[in-house]
Amino acid sequence: MKKLFVLSLILLLSAALVPDKITGRSVEHSSENSRCFKCHGKIVYNYFNKVQDQHLTKRMNPYFVIDSVLFYNSNHKSLECFDCHSYDYKTFPHNSELQMELMPTCLDCHEGDEVTANYHFEKINEEFLKSVHYIRHPKEFTCFMCHNPHTYKINVRKNENIDETIIYDNNICLSCHANINKYHLISSNKNPNIIKKHDWLPDQITHFAHVRCIECHTQTTNKTLVAHQILAKDKAVKKCVECHSQNSMLMASLYKFRAKESRNQFGYFNASILNNAYVIGANRNYYLNVMSWVIFGFAVFLIVIHAVLRILIK
Ligand code: HEC
Ligand code: HEC
Ligand code: HEC
Ligand code: HEC
Ligand code: HEC
Ligand code: HEC
Ligand code: HEC
Repeated sequence: MKKLFVLSLILLLSAALVPDKITGRSVEHSSENSRCFKCHGKIVYNYFNKVQDQHLTKRMNPYFVIDSVLFYNSNHKSLECFDCHSYDYKTFPHNSELQMELMPTCLDCHEGDEVTANYHFEKINEEFLKSVHYIRHPKEFTCFMCHNPHTYKINVRKNENIDETIIYDNNICLSCHANINKYHLISSNKNPNIIKKHDWLPDQITHFAHVRCIECHTQTTNKTLVAHQILAKDKAVKKCVECHSQNSMLMASLYKFRAKESRNQFGYFNASILNNAYVIGANRNYYLNVMSWVIFGFAVFLIVIHAVLRILIK
């Protein structure tokens, strides 16, 4: 119960946790967008009802409310609503056929886009097509299921604070795996209890705050910074030494971006991890290692001398 509470606390905290130090690009807020935000930015909206000849205030469907602060902090802050939605939304009440409009995919805009070429969208797409999510639910599971079109903001690439990134990324997974309402958008099966399913992992709260779900659940490659091929559960990492060892797999995933910058600071193996966490087994020190061998060698040397002297004296 306590664990569940802490997890949901992390979930709540992170909703408020979207600092604006990532891109810093200034954006002219589109006046077209503000027309949409007049209704979609709040929990109530006003409109003029021609039939009744009066202004009315109504409740907005909470799933249709879009936080303008998060939107203007997101990757897509420079976009207009119309870049993805039909111009016909200008009229209200909206034409009901619009509900069936075809939405653009990430690749529609990013395939071959030079500005975002270093993200390797095509490679990410290839990995996604091999993920369990897509294989089992090819129609329902789109990139937008994990990347909210109105709030998604890159983290791991630009955010200096690894703890924030871990919370951000894990909440993407928990938005379904700890939320039955969204899970049921994809599957009507019972949502497995994440805490119970990870009972074998000691101190779950510490682990989930210091590693991401994708560390254990994806196939990492050199082609993408964030691995997107979610594997079936029986292929997930369960061995402690995968992380708790000198060649910790965390260096190829979570700390990939930093691994190049700070190897071997002050003789520590995996120093870039040490800046953020002390991972038993992964953060051994080169000089301490050498020293322990010297002490060990010296002890053996003393024993040999001692034995030789005893034999000679006899
Ligand atoms: C006068 C208030 C008002 C304005 C202005 C408004 N909307 Fe809406 N919008 C609504 C309401 C109410 C709904 C839910 C009922 C409906 O679908 O008509 C809605 C629904 C939607 C939906 C969801 C449709 C669905 O069912 O999936 C989208 C998308 C949308 N609006 C986009 C826009 C965009 C883009 C703009 C700006 C051009 C805009 N709206 C302006 C009130 C408004
Ligand atoms: C990058 C493309 C993109 C932009 C820009 C965008 N939207 Fe959307 N919007 C989407 C997609 C995709 C969905 C469908 C989400 C889903 O199916 O989960 C959606 C859904 C919605 C919905 C329905 C709620 C829902 O989750 O189904 C509303 C309302 C909406 N958008 C309003 C807006 C408004 C207002 C703006 C401008 C401030 C805007 N959108 C900008 C892509 C975009
Ligand atoms: C309607 C077109 C459109 C769609 C759909 C779209 N994007 Fe974008 N995206 C853009 C534009 C425009 C930019 C601004 C950078 C640029 O000029 O290319 C951008 C920027 C980005 C950035 C870089 C942000 C930065 O500051 O460096 C990322 C990451 C990104 N988008 C991811 C996605 C993902 C993931 C999806 C699908 C879930 C998606 N986009 C869907 C148009 C789009
Ligand atoms: C199961 C969830 C999930 C799905 C589905 C998903 N992503 Fe992601 N994606 C993530 C997570 C988590 C991150 C890491 C976000 C961060 O910290 O910046 C990410 C990061 C990214 C990034 C930024 C990588 C970088 O180098 O900084 C891009 C681009 C991206 N995804 C594109 C896509 C595209 C395109 C699709 C669909 C083909 C997709 N994603 C589907 C979870 C998902
Ligand atoms: C330290 C590695 C590790 C981390 C971190 C981790 N998992 Fe797992 N996860 C596993 C392993 C191993 C299994 C398979 C357990 C079994 O079958 O006994 C598993 C099982 C699962 C399952 C399948 C449950 C079922 O039986 O259907 C889901 C879903 C899941 N994890 C989601 C997550 C999410 C979401 C996170 C992040 C909050 C996460 N995992 C973090 C290793 C991990
Ligand atoms: C939009 C909702 C949604 C999101 C977001 C999501 N998942 Fe899932 N996930 C599901 C559903 C639904 C299933 C069950 C698929 C099935 O078996 O039909 C599933 C299954 C899984 C499984 C179990 C596969 C198996 O072998 O049974 C793992 C592991 C998993 N997800 C990990 C993740 C990770 C890691 C993330 C974040 C990067 C994530 N999921 C994000 C909905 C989601
Ligand atoms: C995906 C990588 C990963 C795997 C797999 C993993 N750990 Fe960890 N573990 C970590 C990280 C990162 C920390 C560092 C947390 C911190 O900085 O306090 C940690 C911390 C710990 C701690 C210290 C907890 C505390 O309260 O400070 C123990 C004990 C531990 N792990 C045991 C295990 C055991 C036993 C297993 C195998 C069943 C395991 N770990 C598997 C990454 C991992």
